[in-house]
Amino acid sequence: MKNITILKNNQAFDLVCTDIAPDKSISHRCAMFSLLSDKPSKISNFLLGEDTLNSLNIAKQLGATIKREGGEVEITPPSKFGEPDDILDCGNAGTGMRLYAGLLAGTSGSFVLTGDKYLRHRPMKRVVQPLRSIGAEIDGREEGNLAPLCIRGSRLVPFRYKSPIDSAQIKSALILAGLHATGTSYYKETSLSRDHTERMLSGMGANVKKIDDLHSGKFGWIEIEPLSKPLDPLEMRVPADPSSGFFFAVGAAITPNAKVVIKNVTLNPTRIGAYKALESMGAKIEYIQKENLYEPIGDISVAYNGKLNAITVESNIAWLIDELPALSIAMAVAEGTSEIKNAKELRVKESDRIATVVNGLNACGVETLEVEDGYSVIGGEIKSATINSHGDHRIAMSFAIAGLLDGMIIEDVACIDTSFPNFFDILSQITEIKK
Ligand code: S3P
Repeated sequence: MKNITILKNNQAFDLVCTDIAPDKSISHRCAMFSLLSDKPSKISNFLLGEDTLNSLNIAKQLGATIKREGGEVEITPPSKFGEPDDILDCGNAGTGMRLYAGLLAGTSGSFVLTGDKYLRHRPMKRVVQPLRSIGAEIDGREEGNLAPLCIRGSRLVPFRYKSPIDSAQIKSALILAGLHATGTSYYKETSLSRDHTERMLSGMGANVKKIDDLHSGKFGWIEIEPLSKPLDPLEMRVPADPSSGFFFAVGAAITPNAKVVIKNVTLNPTRIGAYKALESMGAKIEYIQKENLYEPIGDISVAYNGKLNAITVESNIAWLIDELPALSIAMAVAEGTSEIKNAKELRVKESDRIATVVNGLNACGVETLEVEDGYSVIGGEIKSATINSHGDHRIAMSFAIAGLLDGMIIEDVACIDTSFPNFFDILSQITEIKK
C-alpha cells in the first residue's frame, strides 16, 4: 500500500494549471463512440488514467486498431465488432462498465465485462434492469446486479424509459442501446445529468435530441433514432477535467491570498456546479469561455476571498456529485454549518462517499452529522490526520488538499492513477510532499 505525507503549506500561491488531467467522462466516450463510425477518429489529450486506458483497451479487444503516442490517439473502428476471446476489464470505472453494457447489449456476440474488487461491488441493476426490459440478455451475480456481467448481444426493442435516478451513466447506456434498437426510443430523467453523450453523438451525426415540444407531451425527453449508417468520426481535443481541477480550486479558496487558474477546461454547465457552490460560499471565481467544441471550453480562475461561508447543497446534485468530497473540505473550514441533502448516490460511488468523507473529517477533528442521503459539516479547523482512501481516488485527493492547512498522511494513494496520474506533480508546486 503506497502512502504519502503532505506537509502543511505556509504560503500563498499563484498557480496556472495547464496540465490538469484531461476529462475522464469525455475520454471514456471518445474510446467508445469512435466504434460507431467507419472512419478513424483522432483524439488528442486523451486521459492516460487507468480507467480510460481500460476503455481504450476494450475498444481494441472489440476489433479497433489503436495508434497512440502519449495522449494522441487514433482509433480505427472495425467493420464489424469482433467477439473478444477474453474478458473485458473495466478496472475501477463505473462509466466504462455501464456504458459498454449499453453499447454491447445490442451488438451481436458474447461479452463478459468485469472490473476491480471495488467495481465488482457497485450496483449494475440500474442499467441491467432497463436493458433487460428492452430485450437485452445480461446476467451477473445477485440476479444481474453485480459484475462480472455476461452479455449476449440481442435484438433490442424501442423504449420509453423514465429513469428513477438522474445518472449520466444510465442515460448513456440507454442512449447507446437505443442506437441499436429497432425503432425510435425516448429517455427521460428528472433533472439533467452531464450531457456529453448527447452532445458528442449528435455532433457525430446521430439523431439524439432533446424534445422540447410541450404539445407533444414529451417535454424533457430525449429522442433516440436507431443508427441508419455509421457516424462521422470524432476529431477533438479533450478539455481538462473540471472535477480534477476542483481539488486545486478548493486549495486556492481555503489558502489566504492564493489563486489558481485552470486552463482549457470544459465549462459545460452540468459539470461546473461545484465551482458555482464554492463561489456562493464566497470564493472569487471567473469563467472565461474561449471555444466551443461539442461544449463550451475555457479557463476558470479561483481566488481566496476571505473566510468562506457555510452552504446548503440540495438541488441539481448530479452537477456536482463527483466534487462533493472536495467541497466538503471547503465546508469544514467555512463559517457555520453546511449541509448536503438528496445525495444518496454518494453511497454507491468508488466508495460509500458519505461514510468515507464523514469518517475522514471526524479524524481531522471536524464535527459532522451523517444521514442516509447526505451529511452536515460544522465549520471550524481541519487538523492533520491519517486518512485511508478506501481505494477511492477522490477521497485521496480531497484529503491531500486538506493537508495544505495542517499536513495530512494519505494511505493507499495508488487509486489516484485512475483519473489524475500527475496530481502530486501539481500539488508539489504548492507544498512539500514526502513519498
Ligand atoms: C459519469 C457520471 C456520473 C459520475 C461519474 C462519471 C459519466 O455517475 O459520478 O464519475 O461519465 O457518465 P452517475 O451516472 O452514476 O451519476
